[in-house]
Amino acid sequence: MQARLEAEHLFKVFGRRPDDAVERLRQGADREELRADGTTAAVIDASFRVEAGEIFVVMGLSGSGKSTLLRMLNGLLEPTAGSVRFDGDELTALGDRGLRELRSRKISMVFQHFALFPHRSVRENAAYGLEVQGVPRAERERRADEALALCGLAGWEESWPDELSGGMQQRVGLARALATDADLLLMDESFSALDPLIRRDMQDQLLELQKTLKKTIVFITHDLNEAMRLGDRIAVMRDGRIVQTGTAEDILLRPENDYVASFIQDVDRSRVLTAGAVMDTRPRGDEADCACETATPDTPFTELCAISARLSHPVAVLDADRTLVGVVPRQRLVGFLGDEQGEPAACDGSGKDGKKVTDRA
Ligand SMILES: Nc1ncnc2c1ncn2[C@@H]1O[C@H](COP(=O)(O)OP(=O)(O)OP(=O)(O)O)[C@@H](O)[C@H]1O
Ligand SMILES: [Mg+2]
Repeated sequence: MQARLEAEHLFKVFGRRPDDAVERLRQGADREELRADGTTAAVIDASFRVEAGEIFVVMGLSGSGKSTLLRMLNGLLEPTAGSVRFDGDELTALGDRGLRELRSRKISMVFQHFALFPHRSVRENAAYGLEVQGVPRAERERRADEALALCGLAGWEESWPDELSGGMQQRVGLARALATDADLLLMDESFSALDPLIRRDMQDQLLELQKTLKKTIVFITHDLNEAMRLGDRIAVMRDGRIVQTGTAEDILLRPENDYVASFIQDVDRSRVLTAGAVMDTRPRGDEADCACETATPDTPFTELCAISARLSHPVAVLDADRTLVGVVPRQRLVGFLGDEQGEPAACDGSGKDGKKVTDRA
């Protein structure tokens, strides 16, 4: 099936003789070697597909190339080499007019500091994208109000931006993107400037909206916990290169290199893992009791711990047809929490002894 968005061997080099630089990078040179010549390899050989309706997260430290990559996805930056296809169309073939059209109708961006117009009401701010498209006032206000309501801002339509908290202003930015009907959202650190609690709130809101809106979203963050909460799949960037792409579980349980492995040490595994990820998939059938309390493959880890604490035998994991698909013995839960976790005691009372458990995936 055709991907919504497809990047193939994308490079972006800033500075002198970019084509020579790409050649050197293809032959294995890294960023540092090029920097000596005053050339910056912002993105190096990035390839990925984003499927319709998915949240694809690009995660990496500051300077790893995330924003540059994102700007190539909507044609704001032209790749030095490689291609971007949107619904099968090569962006470079669209020309300036085609690209402007694409950016005003099909792709919306939400930035970290969403610049609202101070002398326009919240409604007018949310309607801005539609105004640019030439949508008549009555319709754009109706659609703006709908989008504001989706973002939890019903009742604030007539307010001024400076009457809103930072989190609410950011939601106006999201509403502006949603009001346009663009079904590809590019979000660059959209929640990074918010307080932790409000940030979580926005993450929840985005996930909730996504259940019904089913937009295709590329979300950029430097926060791995945020990446794991939001991403259907995550690409981890380092020094311009994508060093692993996979689901949160892939990244957490099967890091492909030392860099990713060092990153995931601080992740709260209990928030990411589900019964399906931690269960033993070769149950004999007699070690668990399916008549007692059971789990499903998508039962969150914390809930699984609570169930386990109430049972004296392993938890049975049943699929939608109530077929036994796995079991989770209590020691297994502790094993999956990893060495860096604070209090696995909440799960089974064995506390730090969990480190001795060798039963890891
Ligand atoms: N227009 C430009 N000219 C020269 N160098 C640039 C330009 N834009 C970005 N860079 C360089 O490219 C590299 C990647 O920058 P980019 O902004 O894509 O990183 P990022 O991952 O988004 O970082 P951050 O998390 O800080 O936003 C950096 O070294 C940056 O200095
Ligand atoms: Mg950036």
